[in-house]
Amino acid sequence: MAGDWVLGLGGSSHDFSAALLHDTDIKVAVEQERVSRRKHGTAEWFEDPVRASVDYCLDAAGITRGDISRVVSSDLLPHRARRACAGIPTTLYPHHLCHAASVYMMVPPDTRAAIIVVDGMGSVIERPGAEAPAVDRETFSFYLAHESRIELLGATRGEGLIEHVHLANGCTNSLGLLYELVTSLLGFHVLDVGKTMGLAGWGRPRFVEELRRFTRIGQEFDCVFDFDPFSGVDRALSSLLDRGRRSFQVRADLAASVQQVFTDTLLRCYDLVSRLDFDVLCLAGGCALNTVANGALACQLPGDRRLVIAPHSSDAGVGLGALWLHSRDLTSAPPRLALNGRSLSWSIARPGRCYDAAAVQAAIAAHYPRLARDSSMASPAALARFIADGRVLGFFNGASEIGPRALGGRSILADPRSSAIRERVNRQLKLREPFRPLAPMVLDEHFEEYFTPAAAMNQFMLTVAQATERCRQAAPGVVHVDGSARVQVVDDETDPLVAALLREFRDLTGVPILLNTSFNRRGEPIVESPADAVDAFLDMGLDGLYLDGEFLLPAGP
Ligand SMILES: [Fe+2]
Repeated sequence: MAGDWVLGLGGSSHDFSAALLHDTDIKVAVEQERVSRRKHGTAEWFEDPVRASVDYCLDAAGITRGDISRVVSSDLLPHRARRACAGIPTTLYPHHLCHAASVYMMVPPDTRAAIIVVDGMGSVIERPGAEAPAVDRETFSFYLAHESRIELLGATRGEGLIEHVHLANGCTNSLGLLYELVTSLLGFHVLDVGKTMGLAGWGRPRFVEELRRFTRIGQEFDCVFDFDPFSGVDRALSSLLDRGRRSFQVRADLAASVQQVFTDTLLRCYDLVSRLDFDVLCLAGGCALNTVANGALACQLPGDRRLVIAPHSSDAGVGLGALWLHSRDLTSAPPRLALNGRSLSWSIARPGRCYDAAAVQAAIAAHYPRLARDSSMASPAALARFIADGRVLGFFNGASEIGPRALGGRSILADPRSSAIRERVNRQLKLREPFRPLAPMVLDEHFEEYFTPAAAMNQFMLTVAQATERCRQAAPGVVHVDGSARVQVVDDETDPLVAALLREFRDLTGVPILLNTSFNRRGEPIVESPADAVDAFLDMGLDGLYLDGEFLLPAGP
């Protein structure tokens, strides 16, 4: 294919990704973890952390490295990630600016937007006169965007200690690092912050005062959050957990407390920009994946302001943002990027490649004696009946998602009408912690009957809503212990097959909601290829698998 090809690379020390832009059309993007099959795309010292995702994109687009005219990324891309494209001109942009562009690209170019970027830590900021081993890092950035301009209004920075040559390992004033720190103290992997968010629903925020001894929420852009992780906070919180014998409840209360501090801080961030002239509030950076805080923020926005959050808010999204910045710099005009000709406002959540029939058939053939094929079951009506009979369905449907949420591309779907389904999915199928909630997907037109407020409607499952009494009665399997639900709204434009399935399920049961959780085994990334899907389906013990038009049942030993 003629034209100009640009490769966008995402990631910092984790969440690597690749994306290919052809002129103004994004052709494909994927996270490294989906291809490397290692969560968060982490890489050993001898590995190139983006090679697998770059190869995936090149293969999907049918081009070679020689066709790429430029590589773009954030300035946190490690040197060893640049080997996959050695010799190709490279442009690196500030990390938080990439996050900002990665969400602004989802709205029309004439939109006036305020953008808040919050993550663990971003680019190193030059500070005249600073002496090693300290270095400043981006932690909060505030922008106003219109057409081709994304202007920095102000920023809070943290101070990091340089542990080795240039590596700052941790920094102050970071909301993301506070949440990671508590996540680690609770006994989870430091990047498994979603577990802390789920646990918070079971607790009371009775340790907020303890956390406030170490944190302060400020009134200005340059000091919105003050937190020194090296001041003994870990020892104080550990002893607090020890006093509670590290029981489930004391851990849940600590999770609820850090969630409260997190939410309060995000709301203060909005306060700082709220009086400015804009129509859309954009969020990006890893902290924008905190759906509880996002739900609280959505409730604060006046009716004439819309909240837009990037599904690729983690560092996996900075390569997409860098593609927007590069396009902007080429012409100085507002870039009008698309994903295979479709609006980025919704399509960007599903940028993976589509697999052809040969790949599907090869995956089936590889496991054939253990699979039974039943093509009569592949219609939305038959799938709805299958689920309504209480069976759990692996659902592999077209292009894969970017970001941590399964949105109907690589999902496990089940009947939400009984809370017992949560036990089965969590304990038996996904082998995960029973306290974690499972999310609903709902037909767009039925959202307000089952969830509130309307401001919490989100296509990407990025905003927590409250379940109405009707929802608690009709779909208890997708209501968290605190009455909340992380809802994905679906319509015919975003996914006609999922919308048809929801409609059939509604007509059969009276409930326009399905339980939707990510299609992955414990400790593994979400499945990507048909081969991954068949393998996980058989190993997990799911009842059926929809595989791009095929329907499979487990068979025999
Ligand atoms: Fe980041």
